[in-house]
Amino acid sequence: MHTRIRTLEEYHADYQQSIEDPDAFWAEAAEAFTWRKKWNTVRGGDFSPAGESTWYAGATLNITENCLDRHLAQRANKLAIVFEPNDPKTRHLRLTYRELHQRVCQFANVLKQNGVQKGDRVVLYLPMIPALAIAVLACARIGAVHGVIFAGFSATAVADRINDADAAFVLTADGLDRGAKQIPVKSVVDKALEHCPSVRRVIVVEHTGWPVELKEGRDVWYHDEVKSVSNDCPAEEMAAEDPLFILYTSGSTGKPKGVVHTQAGYMVWADYTFRNVFQVEENDMHWCTADIGWVTGHTYGLYGPLLAGSTTLLFEGVPTFPSPGRFWEVIDKHHVTIFYTAPTAIRSLMATPIDHVLAYSLSSLRVLGSVGEPINEEAWHWYDQHVGKGRCPIVDTWWQTETGGIMISALAGITPSVPARAGLPLPGVQPVLLNQDGSEIEGNDQEGYLVIKGSWPGVIRTTWGDHERARQTYFAPYPGYYFTGDGARRDEKGLYRIIGRVDDVINVSGHRFGTAEIENAINQSDYVVESAVVGYPHDVKGQGIYAYVICQHGVPTTDLDLQMAEASIIEAVVAEIGRIAKPDKIQFVSGLPKTRSGKIMRRILRKVAEGETTNLGDVTTLLDPLVVEEILAGRK
Ligand code: PRX
Repeated sequence: MHTRIRTLEEYHADYQQSIEDPDAFWAEAAEAFTWRKKWNTVRGGDFSPAGESTWYAGATLNITENCLDRHLAQRANKLAIVFEPNDPKTRHLRLTYRELHQRVCQFANVLKQNGVQKGDRVVLYLPMIPALAIAVLACARIGAVHGVIFAGFSATAVADRINDADAAFVLTADGLDRGAKQIPVKSVVDKALEHCPSVRRVIVVEHTGWPVELKEGRDVWYHDEVKSVSNDCPAEEMAAEDPLFILYTSGSTGKPKGVVHTQAGYMVWADYTFRNVFQVEENDMHWCTADIGWVTGHTYGLYGPLLAGSTTLLFEGVPTFPSPGRFWEVIDKHHVTIFYTAPTAIRSLMATPIDHVLAYSLSSLRVLGSVGEPINEEAWHWYDQHVGKGRCPIVDTWWQTETGGIMISALAGITPSVPARAGLPLPGVQPVLLNQDGSEIEGNDQEGYLVIKGSWPGVIRTTWGDHERARQTYFAPYPGYYFTGDGARRDEKGLYRIIGRVDDVINVSGHRFGTAEIENAINQSDYVVESAVVGYPHDVKGQGIYAYVICQHGVPTTDLDLQMAEASIIEAVVAEIGRIAKPDKIQFVSGLPKTRSGKIMRRILRKVAEGETTNLGDVTTLLDPLVVEEILAGRK
């Protein structure tokens, strides 16, 4: 086993060993960490049928000792975090490992002073600023379970998550600037907390300087609290399988579920995948553009880089503000060497004049990454040619919130990187393609349901408060395998190509939504009786949201009616979920294509949304086949 694979031969040898002797492989991968106590067993649990996995059971540790303290001997003055603000005219900030360590300890002491204890859930609703990274680590330092919510979700969505996690503590800020948009995050929290009886304390970080109301007895300013704490905070000793964080993500049914990751396995997986996929070197400047509110930000914006002793760049802004050259300007300014972003960002920048890219040298770049959705060939080539200047390997990394870290991807410059292919599995990962009946598909040049055979250190442990849900969603569909929800193709050379979701989940700009979740939001509008949502191909977002809606008073006929109904639907989605889930197209219909048993035939709706007009498949089982004609005629 090589802690860092450097050649294709090493990859094949390590892959082989990881499958034949996973215990030895993952024991070695864990060697370099600081453990308070070593493990009894490397792999354990009952993956099938109970959906339970344990990694490094019996060990104790603290992940922040591995992210911070461990590096102080060699890297105290090395930059840990470089922060680039939303507005390029405001000053950026740099924190060395020593400084970050101190700030994390201070924040951890503020948490303790406010009553946070080991095992408590702490919800974070913060802008993408150093305080967010510090607060996440502060929770981990004292053994509190962090639940970061992307600060773009609505008050209702925040309340749902706080209640599901039964959190007593919320960390937030006065406000947030994202591009030209401003979000009064504290007011969003206030609104959410009207429905969250469990919350006892809100700690507010000053960021924008906007006026906020502090609720007596509940809310405190961070800057007041920090005055009285020391910057020494011994790390709590955690068991390997204690929860580290909860991250909510959408599935095909019901409300978003809280994916739970634990201490040791997640740590080893984040570190191993980060260093190997990106082929990290000591002097790299790593920039993962994802917000810490998503799993990509957790694993490759924060934990992975810090575990590896790297420098990570946190960016508060968006790719197009104040101009579409912003990403490239930031890369030159901070000498970014590894750049990791989403295809949707690449596609949106491709659509702007090329001069925005050509104005910058981008000569510091060494490795490019893509994540979150399939990257189309055109975007891949543009990225390769204009950003990587034809000299940077591209890693198209396939993984999920549930997998904790990258599962299938090229290792930069080592394993094959082919446009529109994620590539080969990482050591420890056994991808399998299944037929609908659950039989394994052998050989190359084949397509099927993508499942993972057996456990790996970063696998989801449970869904918060409801293990049965995790079991049913991921482990029961095909016993012995983890069910990904994606379809994939294994090409002639054995490289994996991810096709997309095979369930009712859509991926909009790399963000995951359940169609049922959006329908539920739309149905909150007073105008709406029923709705059906499907995804359709969208040039920039990957998938757009297409909603078919039945209104109370029939299909709106006047422009005014139409506008009012549309506005009400959008308002409902923004209130229930957030702006990021707004439908791109709304078609009002008098009925939906249903079978005689009342089931909506989404296949037809999907085809119409995709622009298909003739090949809609068998419609004879429909209760009312005429509905299809109407839907086709009114297509958006
Ligand atoms: O459909 C796959 C798609 O994103 C889903 C996971 O979404 P989420 O949990 O939000 O995590 C996103 C970041 C890891 C997957 O089921 N997906 C993710 N990466 C890729 C991808 N599809 C194709 N290629 C990828 N590289």
